[in-house]
Amino acid sequence: MKFNYIVPGDDFSRAGNASSEMKKTLQRLGLPQAVIKRTAVAMYEAEINMVVHAGGGRAEITIEPDLITIIMKDDGPGIADIELAMQDGYSTAEDEVREMGFGAGMGLPNMKRNTDEMLIETEPGKGTTITMKIRIL
Ligand SMILES: Nc1ncnc2c1ncn2[C@@H]1O[C@H](COP(=O)(O)OP(=O)(O)O)[C@@H](O)[C@H]1O
Ligand SMILES: [Mg+2]
Repeated sequence: MKFNYIVPGDDFSRAGNASSEMKKTLQRLGLPQAVIKRTAVAMYEAEINMVVHAGGGRAEITIEPDLITIIMKDDGPGIADIELAMQDGYSTAEDEVREMGFGAGMGLPNMKRNTDEMLIETEPGKGTTITMKIRIL
């Protein structure tokens, strides 16, 4: 099964809609609670990052009997230093973004923690694609 979402980059009030829709679908499919939670958290953080840092993007989720694959793709500025970006608390978010409750610098570490595999492909000035895999046990 495949699910596709467009994540608009201009509307903070709708940030998180795609992951929340996906979560409902996983619940309808009757997947294990722990798998749903990890998928929802990882996708939410990646979705928020696309809105805050990349002007929006696309999400593609594939569900197989034993695996969930989340691909988050944007045409934003890219990530210059992945190792630095992965550190707890590291954030380039502006003050006004922080005032809205985003930009604690825990998104990427949380995505890593909640997935079994995570691959970041990024090119400065071109965009970022993050592929995350969650095993269904
Ligand atoms: N999709 C993205 N495009 C460009 N930069 C990104 C993207 N996702 C993350 N980043 C960069 O990595 C940093 C760390 O991300 P994250 O851990 O989610 O923290 P936060 O979003 O709170 O800043 C961000 O501040 C930003 O500089
Ligand atoms: Mg973030």
